[in-house]
Amino acid sequence: MASQRLPILQHFIDDLRAIWAADLDVGSCMEKAKSLMEKVVLDKDLQDRSATWPSTEGRKNLLLYVDEQYEFAINAVVRVPGRTGSVHDHAHAWVLYGVLCGTESLERYERIDDRSREDYAQVRMTSVSVGSPGKVDLVPPFDIHAEQGGPTRSVAIILRSTKLGDITQSQYDKVTGAVRPGPGPTQIPFELTL
Ligand SMILES: [Fe+2]
Repeated sequence: MASQRLPILQHFIDDLRAIWAADLDVGSCMEKAKSLMEKVVLDKDLQDRSATWPSTEGRKNLLLYVDEQYEFAINAVVRVPGRTGSVHDHAHAWVLYGVLCGTESLERYERIDDRSREDYAQVRMTSVSVGSPGKVDLVPPFDIHAEQGGPTRSVAIILRSTKLGDITQSQYDKVTGAVRPGPGPTQIPFELTL
C-alpha cells in the first residue's frame, strides 16, 4: 500500500488546487496562496520534521509535489549556516518563499542599465528583508533577487507557479555585470509521508 502523504502537505495541496480551479490568473492565485503558506510554515510538526531533511547545497531543491493539472510545484531548500546566495531571477515563474526554520534574508535588486544588452546588466540592491519562521515573501516573474542564509541551518518551503530546473533563468554577476542564462535548481524528489 502506498504511504500516506503528510496531512499538512495534503491540505495545502487541496487548498491550492481549489484556488487554481477558481482563478485563471496565476499571479492572483499566488497572492491568494500567501496566507495559506504563512500557516504551513508555522506548523510545529513540519518544523520538527524538517530538522532531518538533507542539505540542498549545490543548487538543489527538494521536490515535494508537482501538480499535473495546474503546474504549480512545492519545493524545500535546506541551507547551511552562512550560505551565500547568487543574484538571479526565476524567468516567468512566480515564487513564494516561506521560512520554516532558522533565518534567511531576501535581497531584492533593480536593473539600473539601459537594458540594451542581453548579456549585461547593472543591478542595485533596493531592499533586504529578514525572514524567520512564518515569514513568506512573494517574488514576481523576472524579479531580480538573492536568498542569503542566516547564522544557523535554515529551511524554507517554496511554492512555484511552475517547476524550475528545466526552464532557463538568469544569474547576475554584481561585479562584472555579466548575465548568464542557465538551468534552475536541480530537482530532488522528496516525499513527505506519515
Ligand atoms: Fe530565488
